[in-house]
Amino acid sequence: MTNIPKPDDQVDQWRSVMFLYDSALKKINTKIEILNNEFVSRYDYNPIEHIKSRLKTADSIVKKLKKDGYEVTIDNMMEHLSDIAGIRIICSFTSDIYQIADMLASQGDVTVLHVKDYIKHPKPNGYKSYHMVITLPVYLSDGPVETKVEVQIRSVAMDFWASLEHKIAYKFEGNAPENLLKELKDCADMVNMLDGKMFSLNEAITAFAKEHPKDRENGNLEEQQ
Ligand code: GTP
Ligand code: MG
Repeated sequence: MTNIPKPDDQVDQWRSVMFLYDSALKKINTKIEILNNEFVSRYDYNPIEHIKSRLKTADSIVKKLKKDGYEVTIDNMMEHLSDIAGIRIICSFTSDIYQIADMLASQGDVTVLHVKDYIKHPKPNGYKSYHMVITLPVYLSDGPVETKVEVQIRSVAMDFWASLEHKIAYKFEGNAPENLLKELKDCADMVNMLDGKMFSLNEAITAFAKEHPKDRENGNLEEQQ
């Protein structure tokens, strides 16, 4: 592995580092798009609802380094922060989440640094999502640079819940009233139930479509919505 160029000028160094993270995001977006397209062409099935990706802002990077007790330097941010480049993949069903995660993890140029499975082990507040920190090589003119990306994979329902929880946590600065937190936890249980029921329903539809191949000639069910 080649070290990234280290220009004396801090601004140049910042630019070249952010360029790496941005390039890593482009690469992973393409990987996910290819997997999704392959599914569509092979199985007439679209496992991914949508994808969001973002680069952490300079403000948030500084805030997080300080919060974690590190001096604010570019080296520290590259070493200690895993979510400068972040991608969120929203799937239709829980089964799709694990499939996408496995397919991504098994690609030759992807290295999984660590996994947090908040689906098998939800957080006490009810948060569910599958997190992976991976590295992938970005090829610069003088060689590859392994670059970290945080990947979050969750269902539509889990994402809906997480957005609301985030909004509440933000509005109340982490001190939301007990009754709101309790309601949020109840919603998380409903999300579980909904994901379970939607999955069974989808299985039933898939089984029906297999038994009645003629129906497929009229187009796939999703497209008819
Ligand atoms: P930070 O939470 O970012 O400091 O990192 P961490 O080391 O605790 O990693 P973790 O995998 O727990 O969380 C990473 C990201 O997942 C967060 O930045 C959020 O985007 C998301 N996340 C984690 N926990 C929650 C939660 O309770 N609610 C919501 N809405 N999002 C969460
Ligand atoms: Mg956290």
